[in-house]
Amino acid sequence: MEQPYAIEMLNITKRFPGIVANDNITLQLKKGEIHALLGENGAGKSTLMSVLFGLYRPEEGTIKKDGQVVEIKDPNDANDLGIGMVHQHFKLVECFTVLDNIILGVEPCKGGFLQKAEAREKVMALSDKYGLKVDPDALVEDITVGMQQRTEILKMLYRDNEILIFDEPTAVLTPQEIDELMDIMRGLKAEGKSILFITHKLNEIMAVADRCTVLRKGKYIGTVDVPVTTKEELSKMMVGRDVDFVVHKEEAKPKDVILSVEGITVASKVHSNNNAVKNVSFTVRGGEIVCIAGIDGNGQTELVYGITGLEPVKAGKITLCGQDITHTSIRKRSTMGMSHIPEDRHKHGLVLDYTLEDNMVLQRYFEPQFVSGAGFLKRKAIREYAERLIEQYDVRSGQGPITTARSMSGGNQQKAIVAREIDRDPELLVAVQPTRGLDVGAIEYIHKQIVAQRDAGKGVLLVSLELDEVMALSDRILVMYEGEIVGELDPKTTTVEEMGLYMAGAKRKGA
Ligand SMILES: Nc1ncnc2c1ncn2[C@@H]1O[C@H](COP(=O)(O)OP(=O)(O)OP(=O)(O)O)[C@@H](O)[C@H]1O
Ligand SMILES: [Mg+2]
Repeated sequence: MEQPYAIEMLNITKRFPGIVANDNITLQLKKGEIHALLGENGAGKSTLMSVLFGLYRPEEGTIKKDGQVVEIKDPNDANDLGIGMVHQHFKLVECFTVLDNIILGVEPCKGGFLQKAEAREKVMALSDKYGLKVDPDALVEDITVGMQQRTEILKMLYRDNEILIFDEPTAVLTPQEIDELMDIMRGLKAEGKSILFITHKLNEIMAVADRCTVLRKGKYIGTVDVPVTTKEELSKMMVGRDVDFVVHKEEAKPKDVILSVEGITVASKVHSNNNAVKNVSFTVRGGEIVCIAGIDGNGQTELVYGITGLEPVKAGKITLCGQDITHTSIRKRSTMGMSHIPEDRHKHGLVLDYTLEDNMVLQRYFEPQFVSGAGFLKRKAIREYAERLIEQYDVRSGQGPITTARSMSGGNQQKAIVAREIDRDPELLVAVQPTRGLDVGAIEYIHKQIVAQRDAGKGVLLVSLELDEVMALSDRILVMYEGEIVGELDPKTTTVEEMGLYMAGAKRKGA
């Protein structure tokens, strides 16, 4: 009889200091299926996949490929067995081109000479076949996250792998790119490849997966057939309780203007003689959540950079609580009451090699509660403060406050940033994709906290690519298209379709 499983991970246990990340987990991947892996932030999903890819050696358990026990000591072994992985946080070489990244380590050579033309042909053929559009000669540091993601996928396909691991590929993609990726996955499955797919988005699991395995706090909970399950059942298996998918909020009671943006223009980083933000004006009042919606890459990032001070503005004026902050430093804006949950958690959110507790006080270690008159840090006060946030926001890690941020799971890194930024009780909270990579339970909690900020009379500027989030949270929606605000919509009366027309540039205010 033919062996039905491509991969079997049997009774896998993997420990880290202070935590059993995988506690006796069994996962069986059938040939030619799309198998989703679901679990809360920190449940052990990335760890389990890293074991399969040879990045971690488990303390216990065995792995079988086509029924035979195999040893996977490192990613080269995994590669030899036809196992490829697209990582949650990309592992591309920033200063290399897309093409060089794809062929890195498996460069075709003849007589000691690199056959780059041959490699390019193969890459372009794959790119065409799967609709993975990339610019092979662009440097990775210059391309969008969507293209980085496609580069990672091409890298995996270039190696002719038959077992494909996707670790949260959709967390950084736009809704359009997600649809494309779902199609690519279906195509790969039709060719007989076996796919492991990690995502927190239950709609995606319902749309493409055949089966789903659920983990909770390092333990195996169960495997279900997707066609006969529901989103509610999946989320209950995952968090152990019912999750409320609806955001409950009262009518907004907007007060004084907190943030005022008048005619600002911000240069584009990629095309320096172009402006990414063109003469944009709007206000955010206390007690309201204003959302900037739009397709990724229409100037939202640069607009936020201008407001938070990460990039200078070329023209225009920004005021915070009545004070001109157009040219003030990031630190000054922060002490004046601006909080920022950044788009890129690794670049602007955390110091990855600092401990969790030090990350929690990054913008306020100089406050009297954390530093003595003589300039010494009050370690005990910092510890207690971090412990309170960890508890309140359920930030999970191996060693609590002294955990190195780098070793934390992606979602828990995000929760730490959100906790820090909201707890500073800012006048203005600038939240960019605040729930990116979070599990449904954590999203429910963070949404409640954002609404609580609003109800406490604070201003919230939300930037989100997720239309569900935009519709659920915002009191006013501003749609950005090609660097301009092209429409202002009321979430109570608009529809996703109408918003889509503005986002695509097919409709604009006054027109
Ligand atoms: N290299 C490491 N060193 C120490 N602890 C680690 C390491 N990698 C993971 N952990 C811990 O193991 C646990 C599981 O982490 P893992 O990254 O597998 O979670 P996850 O299910 O992928 O979560 P997320 O949805 O947030 O990505 C976490 O508590 C994390 O802090
Ligand atoms: Mg993970």
